[in-house]
Amino acid sequence: MRCRTSLPPTDHQPAPYDGPAKQEVLALRQQYLTPGLLTYYRDPLMIVEGQMQYVWDEQGKRYLDGFAGIVTISVGHCHPEVVKRVQEQAGKLQHATTIYLHPAAAQFAKKLAEHFPGDSGLTVSYFTNSGSEANELAVLSAREFTGNQEVVSLRNCYHGGTQGTMALTAHSTWKFKSNPSVGVNNALAPYCYRCPYGLQYPGCGLKCAHDVENVIKYETCGEAACFIAEPIQGVGGAVTPPPGYFEIVYEIVRRAGGLCVADEVQTGFGRTGEHFWGFQNWGVTPDVVTMAKGIGNGAPLGACTTRPEIAAVMRKRVHFNTFGGNPISMTQGLATLEVIDRENIQQNAQAVGGRLKQRLQELQERRRLIGEVRGLGLMLGIELVRDRKTKEPASTETAEVLEKAKLRGLLLGKGGLFGNVIRLKPPLCVTQDDADFIVDCLDEALSELPAGD
Ligand SMILES: Cc1ncc(COP(=O)(O)O)c(C=O)c1O
Repeated sequence: MRCRTSLPPTDHQPAPYDGPAKQEVLALRQQYLTPGLLTYYRDPLMIVEGQMQYVWDEQGKRYLDGFAGIVTISVGHCHPEVVKRVQEQAGKLQHATTIYLHPAAAQFAKKLAEHFPGDSGLTVSYFTNSGSEANELAVLSAREFTGNQEVVSLRNCYHGGTQGTMALTAHSTWKFKSNPSVGVNNALAPYCYRCPYGLQYPGCGLKCAHDVENVIKYETCGEAACFIAEPIQGVGGAVTPPPGYFEIVYEIVRRAGGLCVADEVQTGFGRTGEHFWGFQNWGVTPDVVTMAKGIGNGAPLGACTTRPEIAAVMRKRVHFNTFGGNPISMTQGLATLEVIDRENIQQNAQAVGGRLKQRLQELQERRRLIGEVRGLGLMLGIELVRDRKTKEPASTETAEVLEKAKLRGLLLGKGGLFGNVIRLKPPLCVTQDDADFIVDCLDEALSELPAGD
């Protein structure tokens, strides 16, 4: 392997690893864990330590975590302030349930409300253990509030792994459609690079947005409980809607009596750079916002936030959750949010993400496998194609780039319907030097592929 790139230096020294060998862990996993679990890489990677934007394997090899534990680490692996606060809480009280009061949940909910636009009315939260459960609650609240049953989600979306959210998820990779999807209808995704109508923005007149109206008209009885969408589709491959898309769709949905739900599980907490929430990039205000992942910097934590009058309907459906709002997750969420504010994490995502995208676009001029670079802030996607005209997905090449990047110390994500989109979503604390390393590493990895020049 020709390798000119090297990771930016770090002061952190990982502790010597003295646990079971990787092969032993793999054998245990194969015997005792469900085969439904996927691993990345021909030789699966074992990660035993993390510090800010870096992780280490059991041999002490360091990697830049370009995928942030699937977009979950926001302020950095084991951020010292977050760790300290959680350790203190773990030594004091680990569990109580929401039948009792605890300051952390109340303080965190207030802090979260302060992060929504002042005129949005989004002030009331329900804490969950995952993004899937937050989305379940969003749909349940919308059905209760509107009295309607029908839900519209988008093709190529991902909303979770529970029965209800699997039904929302329209993406053949996940083989979810065998699940009962009562009252769920899928509209076309605003995927300009592969426009379902073969049109081009802005001449297209945002035809895909009007598909939501068709779906409501022809596939439901003309009424909607809600429309749910990611401001930028994550698993779908950083699919970024054109400006104006959400404004049209939200108006259509509200006219049909429905609520608009923004799934901010990946896009929230400053990841898209210019704004704290993904929806703010599109000039709309949702009625319900769901979140997870970056909210807790690694804690099993999610939330569903809405306006008081919508939240009030949940009195009809007392929804109990043993661990939702537990003191440890709440402390981790609160500490993470405070760090995001204090350390200007969102501003960093904007600055570093902007430079990263610009350099990737320059790389696109030299590497013809790159069909499109898209996304905002540190939520970026690079779609690889064998031919820029036919847009034939370069799926095996994408897997190969991931392998080559790993050898060089860079972990990347992969997504899109054809598995041909490199997903770049590092912890939001990455530096300009890390961004340069990512681009140089990708440049080298692509140059080694037969069609990479
Ligand atoms: C946009 C989006 N929504 C919901 C989920 C489900 O979250 P969880 O895995 O925490 O249930 C995910 C997970 O990847 C996601 O990306």
